[in-house]
Amino acid sequence: MTDPTGPDHSGSRRRFLQLTGAGVAASPWLAACATAAPSAIPARAMGMPWPDWGTLPEEVPPPPKPGSVGVAVVGLGGYAIGKALPALATAEGTHVAAVVSGNPEKAAKVAAAYGVPEDAVYSYETFAQIANDDRVEAVYIVLPTGLHAEWTELAFAAGKHVICEKPMALNAGECARMIAASEAANRKLMIAYRCHFEPYNLKATELMRAGAVGAIRSIETANNYSANRAHNPSNDWRLVKALAGGGPLEDYGLYGLQAALYLSGEVPVSVRGWTEQVPNDPRFTEVFSTVKAEITFPSGAVTKLVTSYNADNLNMVKVTGSDGILLMEPATYYDGNAMKLLKGGTEEVLMPGDSNLQFSRMVQHFAEAIRTGAAIKTPGEMGLRDIRLVEAIHRSAAMGEVVAV
Ligand SMILES: NC(=O)c1ccc[n+]([C@@H]2O[C@H](COP(=O)([O-])OP(=O)(O)OC[C@H]3O[C@@H](n4cnc5c(N)ncnc54)[C@H](OP(=O)(O)O)[C@@H]3O)[C@@H](O)[C@H]2O)c1
Repeated sequence: MTDPTGPDHSGSRRRFLQLTGAGVAASPWLAACATAAPSAIPARAMGMPWPDWGTLPEEVPPPPKPGSVGVAVVGLGGYAIGKALPALATAEGTHVAAVVSGNPEKAAKVAAAYGVPEDAVYSYETFAQIANDDRVEAVYIVLPTGLHAEWTELAFAAGKHVICEKPMALNAGECARMIAASEAANRKLMIAYRCHFEPYNLKATELMRAGAVGAIRSIETANNYSANRAHNPSNDWRLVKALAGGGPLEDYGLYGLQAALYLSGEVPVSVRGWTEQVPNDPRFTEVFSTVKAEITFPSGAVTKLVTSYNADNLNMVKVTGSDGILLMEPATYYDGNAMKLLKGGTEEVLMPGDSNLQFSRMVQHFAEAIRTGAAIKTPGEMGLRDIRLVEAIHRSAAMGEVVAV
């Protein structure tokens, strides 16, 4: 399981469900979702079935070390169970102190697996009580995007630090509210941009700063997969506007957008966007099927970005410079990333480290920032910057012209 959007787009699990019929037959909820319009899912926090990926640890993690930051995980979906909880349990400076879920059976099972006491299992209705729970210093929001702002504000109101999944929120206004709530509570706000802690992307950034390809002329990024609703509850909210905004750009194309920014080291001056919405496809009644963008930087370098919920799997970044090319494919997976430098007729394959470390390194950074007061590497302001660019791309597509940013 390597795909960064969470659900298993490699198809193995999906094929198994299709062959056995287990996915739909076993769950009336899934059967209803497979035929209903995406908007049947309300934009409020509610319990969901066990996700189609993510496993629980075979043994309860050891007790936290002194000084470890206790974190409550809000929303026990695929990414929380597959990546966020294991990261918190394995990082030196964090541990899972509580879980928050609308599905009591799932919450009890996850809590038992991580050694979370029964009185640290919260529902969305009892969440406010977490304010009185000193075992919890921070909250990790792993809910659908449309719920990020509301639950981040609730967590700050409870006096906790917050790490929030990407994308930060649906629009710049929500992002600004989240930053204001962090400031009012005097608590840290981090956006869980894992690629800032991933060895391949860190090495690529270092190489670009060192001029490994000369002056950057263009960056091409692609983040595509085919959204499958019938067997995967995680894909359903991704097709609902109130929970996912415009769709693929916010969810998956954001990786390409972010890569263009950290690899170029620049902030764009203008964007041109194009959107597609396949007619008569029930998946795309509310969100776009494909978004394309051309992003221009002050140096003159241009990024060509494509992201789609309606194309075969592709996760790629290619930087073309005056003296060489850096090719990353896959570029931002959970693991199995690959990178090579093409220069003067030679090809150098680079293997800078274990991509799997990105998750624990990210939460470790969060814990260290809480303990030491150090600045967060991926703060709310970065999330806001990115959502402003997403908005500009959508605005440009709607207007049919270049938008200055
Ligand atoms: N950084 C990454 O690589 C990465 C990868 C995948 C996802 N993500 C992010 O993680 C977040 C969750 O994504 P996911 O793939 O884990 O989603 P998911 O599998 O669908 O899980 C979302 C969970 O949120 C809770 N929830 C509450 N209200 C909901 C509603 N109205 N509709 C759907 N779910 C609701 C449910 O948990 P309970 O049943 O426990 O209440 C549900 O299981 C998103 O922000 C996504 O962008 C990040």
